[in-house]
Amino acid sequence: MVELAKTELHVSVSDPVSASMTFLNEIANRFPDTVSLAAGRPYEEFYTTDDIGRYLDVYLAHLRDKGLTPVQVRRALMQYGRTNGQIHELIAELLATDEKIYVSPDAISVTVGCQEAMVIAVRGLCAVPQDVLLAAEPCYVGITGAARLLGVEVVPVPEDGAGLDPRAVAEVARSVRASGRRPRALYLVPNFSNPSGVSLSVETRRALLAVAAEADLLILEDDPYGLFGLDEATRPTLKSLDTDQRVIYLGSFAKSCFPGARVGFLVADQPVVDTAGRRTLLADELSTVKSMVTVNTSPISQAVIGGMLVAAGGSLRAANREKIAFYRGNLRTLLDSLDRHLPEPARSARGIRWNVPSGGFFAVVDVPFDADEKLLEISAREYGVLWTPMRFFYSEGGGGRAIRLSCSWLTPAEIDDGVARLARLIADRS
Ligand SMILES: Cc1ncc(COP(=O)(O)O)c(C=O)c1O
Repeated sequence: MVELAKTELHVSVSDPVSASMTFLNEIANRFPDTVSLAAGRPYEEFYTTDDIGRYLDVYLAHLRDKGLTPVQVRRALMQYGRTNGQIHELIAELLATDEKIYVSPDAISVTVGCQEAMVIAVRGLCAVPQDVLLAAEPCYVGITGAARLLGVEVVPVPEDGAGLDPRAVAEVARSVRASGRRPRALYLVPNFSNPSGVSLSVETRRALLAVAAEADLLILEDDPYGLFGLDEATRPTLKSLDTDQRVIYLGSFAKSCFPGARVGFLVADQPVVDTAGRRTLLADELSTVKSMVTVNTSPISQAVIGGMLVAAGGSLRAANREKIAFYRGNLRTLLDSLDRHLPEPARSARGIRWNVPSGGFFAVVDVPFDADEKLLEISAREYGVLWTPMRFFYSEGGGGRAIRLSCSWLTPAEIDDGVARLARLIADRS
């Protein structure tokens, strides 16, 4: 029987990022009674399987209202479809209503989750080995993993407590260029980032756009958590501030609708000119990449999400009020529980501190000991609590004494219980 050497498979097979996530899942399976402050999944009780049929029916009625015949409706749902998708008009309306992003539906590609949008964007933009991607670090593993799969180098730009410093971006872009490589794009999550929880101020967003123009960089703006602020403050997307078409906006319906649909999108309204002077949109060009990855996003999944968009009357912000309130409550519970179970002055004396994100699913706790896989296993076995080592989100060292806590998947009581367990671990180790 044939036997393959792992060392002869592509490096992405043994991706350290995915190995870390596999390790986390394996621990979660081995200790099923643990409280998981590691899982960044959305809260499941918002969903019922009845919703799937209901929203499908809403979308079918929408197609009939648009004048499609039964044969056309059947084709829309059951045939191979347009590569860039069929709910692009609904997404364009949504972006205008919720985000003040005004783009032609033709600039939108409906993808298999935001993850596929990242793969397509990075593949399409990075043409030669010298093209590198800059990424805020600590960094979401989906983009570093996608880049590794594609053989694209990622150069980290360290975040500070306030997020990404535009001067650091300019500096890294300069040094990349000085080394003979081309900084093609910058990836970032401006709202309640995963993993750091940090958000960028409006001035920083504007300054980043200025740096991108100066350094001739595109920006990949990933915004899956933007709806879930602790308050009603408006946090303009970079795309809505972008007068230079520098920003490719990456969207996900995983948190605002549900992740099992696997529907996301990208907005790429940049003009592309070929050697004959013909102009197209970047979204058109990227559709060729998409056609070789997934052909088209499942029309059935698009129909369910399309039905949710129709039912939401164009605003997921309005349709998500209940979820927004729930996640706000959970983040407040997480921060309050940390305060209660790790009180002052002892915590400062021991070097324990955490950031206070203004929304989203995550916060980061600095601890005075190595928070590695070995400790995670002890934490699961002896304390019954899971968390994510921050080191998983750094390319080369960093994050060794910090942990990411997630509060999306649990009830407030479970969060408090998890933090109490974590506090016992921290007290025993400090
Ligand atoms: C920053 C970030 N981007 C993208 C995604 C993935 O989105 P999707 O499920 O639509 O592929 C996640 C999911 O956790 C995320 O945290």
